[in-house]
Amino acid sequence: MRIAVLNGPNLNLLGVREPHLYGHETLAQINERLGALARELDVEISFAQFNGEGEMIDAIHAMRGAIDGVIINAGAYTHTSLAIRDAFAATGICYVEVHLSNIFAREPERHYSMLASGAIGILCGFGAYGYEMGLRGLVTALSRG
Ligand code: DQA
Repeated sequence: MRIAVLNGPNLNLLGVREPHLYGHETLAQINERLGALARELDVEISFAQFNGEGEMIDAIHAMRGAIDGVIINAGAYTHTSLAIRDAFAATGICYVEVHLSNIFAREPERHYSMLASGAIGILCGFGAYGYEMGLRGLVTALSRG
């Protein structure tokens, strides 16, 4: 099973970016733990981060036939990007949506997710641990078929 972890804008700055909201861990540290969990679960995993919406869409297109499922934190594009949801619909790739913070406990403009209706499931508010739960959930869902 081949899983991709896709992070969106500003998540390259994790560790220094508003740590009271997003924690002190860097994206590299989060990905390292996910890599270890992927070995434990016996799945292949790859990681990518893009600040641009178009780059994220290109990356999703390139996953067609190469990736079975995606863990995505689309950052602020979560709240605006019908195009990213369309990219998943167009490629038929299933995904789990993850957010470090509890988006529903924040400003109203963060309460709506463009991606949620197409996701297998959503995790938010658990910090970096949400990615790990997302990986376990995605692998379980894909194994069940
Ligand atoms: C985020 C929440 C978004 O509202 C925000 O724009 C982010 C990070 C999160 O992980 O909590 O960039 O997706």
